[in-house]
Amino acid sequence: MFKTRYKSHHDAEHEYRELLPKTPASGAELTEYLNAQRPVSLRENAIYIHVPFCERICSFCNMNRKLVDDSLGTYVTDLIKQIRSMGNHHFFKVNEIKAVYFGGGTPTVLAPEAFEEIMTALRASFLMAQDCEITCETTLHNLTTDHLTMFKALGINRLSIGIQTFQTAGRKFFNRTYDKAEVIKRLTKIRQSFAGCLSIDKIYNYPGETKEMLLDDVAQIINLEIDSVSFYSLMIHKGSKLSEKLTANDFSLEQDQHFHDLFIEALRTKGDFEFLELTKMARTGRDRYYYMNIRNGNGNTIPLGKGAGGQIGPFQIYNVDFDRIMMVRLDDDTNEVANKVYGIFQSPVIEKAQLEELKLATALQAELERLIAKGYLMEHEQAFEMTAKGIFYGNNIGGVLARKYLEAHPPKKVQNSKMTLVQKAKIEKTIADFVAPFKGGIMATMAKDKKPQLSTIAVVKKGHTIYTLISQTAPHYHNLKEHNQAQIIFAEEQADMENAFVRKRLSYEVTATFIDGEESLLQYFCEQHGAVTKMLCQMGFEFVALKITGGKIILGPAMAYRFDEDEVVCP
Ligand SMILES: C[S@@+](CC[C@H](N)C(=O)[O-])C[C@H]1O[C@@H](n2cnc3c(N)ncnc32)[C@H](O)[C@@H]1O
Ligand code: SF4
Repeated sequence: MFKTRYKSHHDAEHEYRELLPKTPASGAELTEYLNAQRPVSLRENAIYIHVPFCERICSFCNMNRKLVDDSLGTYVTDLIKQIRSMGNHHFFKVNEIKAVYFGGGTPTVLAPEAFEEIMTALRASFLMAQDCEITCETTLHNLTTDHLTMFKALGINRLSIGIQTFQTAGRKFFNRTYDKAEVIKRLTKIRQSFAGCLSIDKIYNYPGETKEMLLDDVAQIINLEIDSVSFYSLMIHKGSKLSEKLTANDFSLEQDQHFHDLFIEALRTKGDFEFLELTKMARTGRDRYYYMNIRNGNGNTIPLGKGAGGQIGPFQIYNVDFDRIMMVRLDDDTNEVANKVYGIFQSPVIEKAQLEELKLATALQAELERLIAKGYLMEHEQAFEMTAKGIFYGNNIGGVLARKYLEAHPPKKVQNSKMTLVQKAKIEKTIADFVAPFKGGIMATMAKDKKPQLSTIAVVKKGHTIYTLISQTAPHYHNLKEHNQAQIIFAEEQADMENAFVRKRLSYEVTATFIDGEESLLQYFCEQHGAVTKMLCQMGFEFVALKITGGKIILGPAMAYRFDEDEVVCP
C-alpha cells in the first residue's frame, strides 16, 4: 500500500502540509498577536530551547549543531535576553507553560551554572505550571554529577539520553564515546541519583547489528530500569558522515520491519513497556511526556535559541538566529484539524471519540476501512488500534489521513483576513465579558429520533470548559451518553434588549464528558449555586464537562462572529 516508509515526522508532514495555504508573516505580526488582550488560549503551551553545540559529531547526525567553539560563551547571554523579551508579551502573563524541552545538539555542553541562569530567567519571565515537565537532552560523556545535582535543585525532571546502542561495535560505528561496560556503569549511576524520568534514544538496524545485539539492548534497558525509550531506524541523511559511504538503498525494508517488530515485542513482553507514541515506549506510568502530547495535540511550542522551530497560534516559526526569524501564517482553520489528525495517529490506539470530536469519522471512513482491509489497523468497539505493521508505517498513515481530511475539506483563505488581530482580540474580550455573569444557560441536545431537546442548566465556567450537573433521569443525560455533542446558549435578559430581533446571544458548540464529582468542583459549584448542589449529587445528578470547540456570538444587526477553539475566524 505504501511505496516508501516515512521514517521521520519531517517526511510524513510533507504529505499534507504542502496543501495548507501559508502567508509569509513578520515579527511585528507575532508581537501584535502576543500582545493582544485575548483570554487564555485553549492550546497548551511548551517551550523549546535549542542548544546547537556538541563536543563530538556522530556519524549519522545532520542535525542543527556544530562542534563547541568560542561562541558558546555568548550563547547563554543571548538566550537569556531572548527569554526575557519573549516573556514580556501579554500572552505569557496569562498562559501557563506546561513543558520545557532543552534540545540540541547537546545541551549539557553548558555548565550547571548556565542552566541555573537560564532556569532563573525562565521562571521570572513565564508562568511555569507547578508540575511543569522540564526535559534535558544529553549524552553520557558530558552529563556530570554536578549537572545532576543542579538539575534536581532546578526542577529539571526528565532526562533524554542519546544512547543509540549498548554494543561496543555499534558505538564505534556511530562515533559515540565509551564501550558497553562504561555505558552500563554510567547509566547505573545516573539511575541511582536521578529520581525523575530517565529516557533514552535507540537506533536500530544499523550495519553490523544482529538480532542478538538488538535483544541485548532491550535486556540492558530493562535491567537498568530505564523509564522510556525512543527508537528510530537508522536514516542516512545528507550532510552526515555516513552519507559519504551509504545510501538509504543499502538497507532492506524487510530487515527494518523485522528488527522493529522484535524490538517492540521484546519491550512489551519482557518489560512492562507500552506505547506513548509510534516511536516511543514507556514503563507504565513512568513518562508523562507532556511535551510530546502538547506537540501532537497542536499546542503552542515557543521556540527559543538559534535553530529552534515552533508554533504559536497560527504562526509557524523558525529562529535562524537570535535576531532573525522566518515565519509563515497558516491562514485557514483546516490546518488546525489536519495537524490534529496527524497528531492523533501518532499514537497506535485511536479512540473513536477523538475522531468524532473533530467530526472526522465520515471524511476518513473509506481510508480507515482500506487500512483495516490491508492489515494496518484493527477496529474495536471504542477505538482503532494499529497492528505491528501499522505502527511500522504509522508516519505514513498519519500523513495520508491528514491529506485525506484536507482533500475532503479543501483549505480556503479565511474570509475575514481583513480583520486585524487587534479587532479579533477585542471580539474575544467581548465574548469573555458577555458570558462571565451567566450562572445558567440553555442546553440543546439531539434525541435518538433526531428531535432537538432544550432545557435550562446551571453552569460554572472554568477556562474553556463549562461544567454542569445533569440528572440521570433527564433526556439530556441519555442524549449525551449516546452522542456527546451539544450546544449551550446564553442570551441577553429580555429587559436589557433594545428589540427582540437584536437580542445579544452567544452559542457554544461543546463536546460533553461525564466526570466523577471531584471535591474541588463540588465546592466551586456550591459557592456559585448554593448547598442544593450537594443534595442534587445525592439524588443522582452527575457532573458533565462541556469542552468548547467553537461557536457564534451575535451582538447586533450584521454583527455576528464565528469562532473556533482558539480565535475569532469569521465575521
Ligand atoms: C537531537 S538527537 C539528540 C540527542 C543527543 N544529542 C545525543 O545524541 O546524545 C535526537 C535523537 O534522534 C535520533 N537520530 C538522529 N539522527 C538520526 C538518524 N540519522 N537516524 C536515526 N535516528 C537518528 C537519535 O536517536 C538521537 O539521539
Ligand atoms: S546525535 Fe546528538 S551528540 Fe551526536 S552529533 Fe547529533 S546532536 Fe550531537
